[in-house]
Amino acid sequence: MIPYQLIAKKRDGGELTAAEIEQLIAAYLTGGFTDEQMAAFLMAVFLQGMTTAETAALTRSMTASGDVWDLSSVPQPTIDKHSTGGVGDKVSLVLAPWVAACGVAVPMMSGRGLGHTGGTLDKLAAIPGFSTSLTKKRTISQLKKIGVAMLAATENIAPADRRMYALRDATGTVESVPLITASILSKKIAEGADGFVFDVKYGSGAFMPEIRRAKALAESLVKTAIKSGKKAVALLTAMDQPTGCAAGNVCEVREAIDCLRLKKPEDLYQITKTLAVEMLMLAGSFRSRTAAAAQLEQAIDSGAALEKFRRLIQAQGGDPRVVDNPELSPQAAHHNEIKAPRSGYLQKIDTRRIGWALVELGVGRKKPDDDIDISAGLLLSKKIGDRVAEGESVGTIMGRSRRTFALVAREVAASLSIGATRTRPQKLIHSRFDGRWIPL
Ligand code: URA
Repeated sequence: MIPYQLIAKKRDGGELTAAEIEQLIAAYLTGGFTDEQMAAFLMAVFLQGMTTAETAALTRSMTASGDVWDLSSVPQPTIDKHSTGGVGDKVSLVLAPWVAACGVAVPMMSGRGLGHTGGTLDKLAAIPGFSTSLTKKRTISQLKKIGVAMLAATENIAPADRRMYALRDATGTVESVPLITASILSKKIAEGADGFVFDVKYGSGAFMPEIRRAKALAESLVKTAIKSGKKAVALLTAMDQPTGCAAGNVCEVREAIDCLRLKKPEDLYQITKTLAVEMLMLAGSFRSRTAAAAQLEQAIDSGAALEKFRRLIQAQGGDPRVVDNPELSPQAAHHNEIKAPRSGYLQKIDTRRIGWALVELGVGRKKPDDDIDISAGLLLSKKIGDRVAEGESVGTIMGRSRRTFALVAREVAASLSIGATRTRPQKLIHSRFDGRWIPL
C-alpha cells in the first residue's frame, strides 16, 4: 500500500475498496500511515464523502482496531441507544432502567460531554460513588443479573477512533457524515449489542441543525449498522430547545428521576417513551407498539423502572438513596435568576449558544483534561411559545462559584428570541428511518 495513492484516490473522488481501507487503518495503527497522512485523508473524506460500502469498511476496520465484546451469553436480547447529542439530553438516564424493567438488556456505553453538548458519563458522576469503569466480565455479569449497565468505553474499544477523533477535532473534519458514522458505530459494534436505536437530533442545539443533514446522518447510521450485521432504526427528534428544563449534571439527574417517577417533563417523557418502544420492538419482545407502550407505562406506574434505577446505582457502587434524597448529590453554592429583557413570546432559542454558555459555567470542558463543576447548571422555566413579561424570571443558573455568572446569564438571555407573535417549537418526534422514512 502506498499512502499517497490512497489519499489521492479519495481526494479525486474515487471509491476505495474494502481491502484498501483495511490496509490504511492497519498501517495507521502500526506507523506506516502517519498522522499527517491521516489528517489529509480525513479532509479528503470530509470533502468527497464516502459510499455506504466504504463507510461500512471503515467502520469494520476501526472496530477491529481493538476489543470486540461478545455478549451472546446474556440471555435477554441486548439493545443500546445512541444520541447524536444536545443540551439537556438526559434521555439515557430514564431510558436504560425503563427498558431493562421491560425485560430487554441495555449495555449502554456512553461518552463525556463533547463541544457544547452534555455527556451521560458526566451526568452519572453526579451520583455519589457511581463508577462507570466496568470491565467486559463485570458488564456481562451485571447484564445477566439486572439487565442494565451504564459504562465508559474502555481504552481498548476502537482505539483507532480515539486517535482519529483527536485529529478530526484539530483539523476541522468533525462534521462529516461518514466520519461521524464510522466513529459512533465502531464503538457501538465493539460493545457487542444486537441492535441500536439512534436518536438523531435536529435543530439549533444539534451537531447537524438542518433537517436535511440530520436525515443524511440517520440514513448513514442505520444503513451502515445493518450492513455490519446489526439491527438498527433511527428517530429524528427535536433539539431546537433544551430537553426538559434542566441542563447540567446534578440537575439533570434530578429531572431524570422525576421523569421515572412522575412521567414529566412532557417532552423528555415523550421522546424517551418513543425511543423505548423502538428498543423493545427491535428486541422482538412485543408484537405491537401498543403492547410495548402499555408495558412501559406499567413499569413506571408500578415503580419497577425506578427500582431498576436504584439497583443499577447500587450495582455500580453508587448511593441509591439519591433517588429519594437528591440533596445527597453535590449542591450548588450559588444561584442567580435570569430575567426576561422584554415582554412577548419566546419564539426561538439558540440552544448551541446556551450549551457553550454552560461550558463557561463549568458544566462541560473546553479542553479534554478540564475540571468540571458537577453542581453547575441551568433550570430554564420557559419553552418556545410561552409568554414572558419584562423582568420575569426565565431561568436560574447555579454553580459552586459566581465567577462566570454575569457572562453566562448574559449569554443565556441573548440566546432567547422574544417577539410579539407566538411561534411553535419544532416537531418533537419528526420521523423514523428503518430503511425508509416514516413521518411521525
Ligand atoms: N460522537 C462520536 O463518537 N463521534 C463523532 O464523530 C461525533 C460524535
